[in-house]
Amino acid sequence: MYIKKKKSWEISENEITPETIFLNRRRLLQTAGLSGVAMLVGKSPFSAPIDGFPPVRNQKYTIERALTSEKDATTYTNFYEFGSSKNIWRKAKKLNTDPWVITIDGLVEQTIQIDASDLVKKLGGMEERLYRHRCVEAWSMTVPWAGFPFSNLVKFAGPKPEAKYIRMETFFEPNVAPGQKQTWYPWPYVEGLTINEARNELAFLAVGLYGKALQNQNGAPIRLVVPWKYGFKSIKSIKRFTFTNEQPRSFWEILSPKEYGFWANVNPWVPHPRWPQDRERVLGGGTVPTQLFNGYEEEVAYLYKSEYTDNKRRLFY
Ligand code: MTE
Repeated sequence: MYIKKKKSWEISENEITPETIFLNRRRLLQTAGLSGVAMLVGKSPFSAPIDGFPPVRNQKYTIERALTSEKDATTYTNFYEFGSSKNIWRKAKKLNTDPWVITIDGLVEQTIQIDASDLVKKLGGMEERLYRHRCVEAWSMTVPWAGFPFSNLVKFAGPKPEAKYIRMETFFEPNVAPGQKQTWYPWPYVEGLTINEARNELAFLAVGLYGKALQNQNGAPIRLVVPWKYGFKSIKSIKRFTFTNEQPRSFWEILSPKEYGFWANVNPWVPHPRWPQDRERVLGGGTVPTQLFNGYEEEVAYLYKSEYTDNKRRLFY
């Protein structure tokens, strides 16, 4: 995404979780005993790659549009940690994603540290979903993600009742990711959702694309996919999930709040301050009209009910 002015920053539930997951977590928590002490779950740091491929396609999430070619989806990517061009896939190979210790903390019963490969085993069977993806820059793609409903992670984390939001954070390794040496960006990349959004059936944690493990440039080993929101919400290579009662300030929101809001729901009626949002360029060819909530109105409109009924045009941006 292009930012007009550089600022001088000083700092740099349709799927039910199997009961066994819940019980395992309980048992782990009991075994760990001490509350407030980080618990290392699994066998990290000597971990194995994520397995479970190929995933089984969930027929509920198919799509009428043609799939984007794997080549386009894996070579035309936004990953500012590796530079602001779309052609960063070679640079991203430098990132070591195994082992990959993820921290789940904040307003949860117990802080958990777990390797990505162990975490996915706790999140149920891997499934494949075809989703549309609409970047705020007005290009779009349709791809098969493999992963798990985010709601499974919420259950695994065991949030306290006062937790209202989930803040997610990407790695910070400037020696590997040269973009992170650009100190005017507020690294690390941060995104957030309300817990209710994270529990929506469409919110997905992807570990694969086109039936294989995610490649680094697409957010290995684990990334968010929220297809009714502009693509920048779908944070890549997540290292930390923090449950909180404060609305997180996202990376792009800090840089340019009028252009990249917290909600960022796809909305053809609200233009970006510098370009229209009513059409999109489909990777691979052609343009099509952009749909409200990127075509997922039926699944997500309830989340924004008052705004939705008040005035569609003012829907969160
Ligand atoms: N996550 C991180 N950590 N860094 C980024 O620069 N770019 C976002 C999002 N997640 C980004 C990120 C943007 S702007 C988009 S459109 C999508 O990732 C792109 O996902 P894709 O490259 O897999 O298509």
